[in-house]
Amino acid sequence: MIGVFDSGVGGLTVLSQIRAQLPDSPILYLADQAHAPYGDLTQARVIERSRLISQWLQTQGCTLVVVACNTATALAIDALRASFDIPIVGVEPGIKPAAIQSLSQRIGILATANTVASDRYLRLLERVLPDIDILSQGCAGLADAIEQQSADLDQLLRRYCQPLIDQGVDQIVLGCTHYPLVKERIARLVGPQVTIVDTSGAIALEVKRRYPQDLAGPQVGAPIRLYTTGSAAEFDRLVCAYPLLAWLSGLASHELS
Ligand code: SIN
Repeated sequence: MIGVFDSGVGGLTVLSQIRAQLPDSPILYLADQAHAPYGDLTQARVIERSRLISQWLQTQGCTLVVVACNTATALAIDALRASFDIPIVGVEPGIKPAAIQSLSQRIGILATANTVASDRYLRLLERVLPDIDILSQGCAGLADAIEQQSADLDQLLRRYCQPLIDQGVDQIVLGCTHYPLVKERIARLVGPQVTIVDTSGAIALEVKRRYPQDLAGPQVGAPIRLYTTGSAAEFDRLVCAYPLLAWLSGLASHELS
């Protein structure tokens, strides 16, 4: 079984891609909504939550864990890989593909403030072609606004995208798994001259490559089980609210205390 976790519903954008690649593999998903947003937590707290959740996923029978959260990947994946002997797959903003595609040689990244300040992110920037300008935009409150379906969402998107447009980027990388849920809104805001880069498809391919399927065995129509540390009713309502997640709307989630 594949274990997937995030601070909330954002990781379901990655789960959707994993399902497309591995339709016969059971998936267990945990949204840590009682402790979200991870963008506001200290690194020690993100590591503690990520360890506890990975342990729980492993005790439930998961043989691979996907950290479907850019903040948890940036702050905790090294600690997880040092503590677990199963594959731990993280998510990474698609800076390299955006840099290769860019004609203006200028790309923008939207991510949580915690992600853009992390050592892992800074190391990632060092690996990109030196003649590319990379504008990193920390988006305080944006993941939370998506979780809350806040009335301020469009205003926040404008606040974070406009400086990137003003500086001539032609690629905007979504560096948080929540942001694909509002990809259409971002696309309307930035216009057709800007390409929006989302790496969830590439992450799913990496999961497919590393998942020890021979241990699990194929299961036609394998189940997806959804858990939240918050309110199951609220989680189910959010799943129904975002068109990208509509295919999951028949599944009732469970609360985990
Ligand atoms: C958050 O919980 O602050 C967002 C998580 C992410 O970076 O994907």
